[in-house]
Amino acid sequence: MTVRDILILPDKRLRLISKPVAKIDASIKKLVADMFDTMYDAPGIGLAAIQIGEAKRIVTMDLAKKEGETEPLVFINPELVDESGEVSVHEEGCLSIPEYYEEVERPAVVTVKYLDLDGKVQQAKASGLFATCIQHEIDHLNGVLFIDHISKLKRDRVVKKFTKAAKQAAKDDGKDSPKSAAK
Ligand code: NI
Repeated sequence: MTVRDILILPDKRLRLISKPVAKIDASIKKLVADMFDTMYDAPGIGLAAIQIGEAKRIVTMDLAKKEGETEPLVFINPELVDESGEVSVHEEGCLSIPEYYEEVERPAVVTVKYLDLDGKVQQAKASGLFATCIQHEIDHLNGVLFIDHISKLKRDRVVKKFTKAAKQAAKDDGKDSPKSAAK
């Protein structure tokens, strides 16, 4: 079990465009296992590989409603092949933007095409929370965050807050670390 560090806003790697997975080998399976360990530990319902620093088009998800139950889902190279004209609004959050929630409008129903862990092509029609989550995670693969869908005023405010917190954390680290003190 490997719980990996989750990248936090304003980490620039969150803006990278992830690369398609060419072959589902042992290293990809290990990465998927790490993603589940990290996602369940957080805890969260969805994770994109880039959130643990791997710019690969992989998403893990678990939308099990009942406490104690798990329904692990893996989407490799996922793409939206259809979306409804209708939109819906859901409150979203993100493990890379902890404790910040905002309503986001997205297509209410989408069809996603992807590869499963065996490399088989799959297709799923998503609505409700599934639709919100898969669109949020595919956004991550394209370097897009859910705060890009909210007003500029709100986005600027949250980016500023997290940038300030990151600077403060770096400063605090510097104080404790003899290595950087010696620099
Ligand atoms: Ni997210």
